[in-house]
Amino acid sequence: MAFRKIFTQHIQKKTCHTMAFYKQHGGYEQAKAALSKRKKPDTLIDLVKASNLRGRGGAGFPTGVKWGFVPKTTDKPKYLVVNADESEPGTFKDRLIMEKNPHLLLEGILICCKAVGIETAYIYIRGEFVFATERLQKAIDEAYDAGFLGNNALGSGQRIDVTVHRGAGAYICGEETGMLTSLEGDRGNPKLKPPFPAIEGVFGCPTVVNNVETLANLPYILEIGADAYRAIGPENSPGPKLFCVSGHVENPGTFELPMGVPLRTLIDKHAGGVWKGRKLKAVIPGGSSAHVLTADECDVAMDIESLAAAGTMLGSAGVIVMDETTCMVDAMLNVMRFYHHESCGQCTPCREGTGWLAKITHRIAHGEGRMEDLDLIQDVCDRMVGKTICALADAAAFPAESIVKKFKSDFESAIQNGGSPAWKKRHPSVVGGAASHA
Ligand SMILES: Cc1cc2nc3c(=O)[nH]c(=O)nc-3n(C[C@H](O)[C@H](O)[C@H](O)COP(=O)(O)O)c2cc1C
Ligand code: SF4
Repeated sequence: MAFRKIFTQHIQKKTCHTMAFYKQHGGYEQAKAALSKRKKPDTLIDLVKASNLRGRGGAGFPTGVKWGFVPKTTDKPKYLVVNADESEPGTFKDRLIMEKNPHLLLEGILICCKAVGIETAYIYIRGEFVFATERLQKAIDEAYDAGFLGNNALGSGQRIDVTVHRGAGAYICGEETGMLTSLEGDRGNPKLKPPFPAIEGVFGCPTVVNNVETLANLPYILEIGADAYRAIGPENSPGPKLFCVSGHVENPGTFELPMGVPLRTLIDKHAGGVWKGRKLKAVIPGGSSAHVLTADECDVAMDIESLAAAGTMLGSAGVIVMDETTCMVDAMLNVMRFYHHESCGQCTPCREGTGWLAKITHRIAHGEGRMEDLDLIQDVCDRMVGKTICALADAAAFPAESIVKKFKSDFESAIQNGGSPAWKKRHPSVVGGAASHA
């Protein structure tokens, strides 16, 4: 079957975000079928399980399996919380769906609500996404006016309400338990798991948390069936996928391609290749939390298993490309400052570890590093990974340990020669890092 784009097929059209346009192109037909009284919720869960759809938010957990964890009978309400926080550096795909194709997300929400028996869905959207919020709210208003949402959604007799909730721009509110805590009105601190949200989520009730892109796959799965869906890309992590390419390429952007596209094809063909005729130096393939790849390691397919086998991860599919002129010390400093700033501070290994990583990298970049710092960075990372409430500590340690290991000579050169090239260019009179950089 030829590959058909489902997220971006019509995004050049001016009215692509409207309900009229969406319906003209077959929109809401799958939700209508799903919400019909004849369709059993379990049939939908089984279909999604059979499709092998895996979460697009970063962890790649099988979506149908996650839905299956939610208790069928409970005296508590069940909730769907859509993760639209999209804060992972290098990631800009969910915003595209919400701005250009918001009804696709709403249709996915309706299907999930029927499958799991949910009446209330929240879309937790990153606060800075003002335009996406407007587009989403407009689409929701259209859906209520048409009777697709509300007390008798699509004439099914089932109540389905959707509310948009704006975050305040904290990365940690993308972590699912941090997001749920924030939605409840508290500081967005993550919580220990178990209990997982499927059992005890928002307001202490069973909750499905799914990413925007994950849910936007559902109408297509219903349309073509599980077998055809599994045939798109590798069977274990199939489907159409949005890849975000940024950094030193001629044509950065979001590209919709089958899962498993070769990384080289993504960079060279779709993103126009490394810019200015330069050579490739490094790629972070799955948002800044992923282990870095050297240019020699880039002959890899962009899917969950292949990238795991290559020692990194698909994550949020935010592909950050760095050319041969990049100083990896400066690149790492940029990333470590981010994680230090975004740590919620609950766990000592994360609060202190991200601070140490940022400080050590800072002193190496600014000409005050020592050779022992390279082992010290690894030691700090070892004390962070797997030792905290949520995975933000791992997200900082993975790029740190891999950048130092794979690009050691950049660090040695900065330590021996008075700082990183960028620092020395900005401060030509400072030799050997004698200045104070508090
Ligand atoms: C620090 C951190 C930040 C995260 N940020 C996001 C995010 O911005 N968007 C997202 O969908 N998932 C994010 N996740 C993953 C979520 O916790 C969760 O796995 C995901 O929303 C589940 O949806 P999915 O199964 O559809 O992928 C983050 C995880 C961590 C540890
Ligand atoms: S790992 Fe970091 S961000 Fe996550 S809960 Fe602990 S301190 Fe907060």
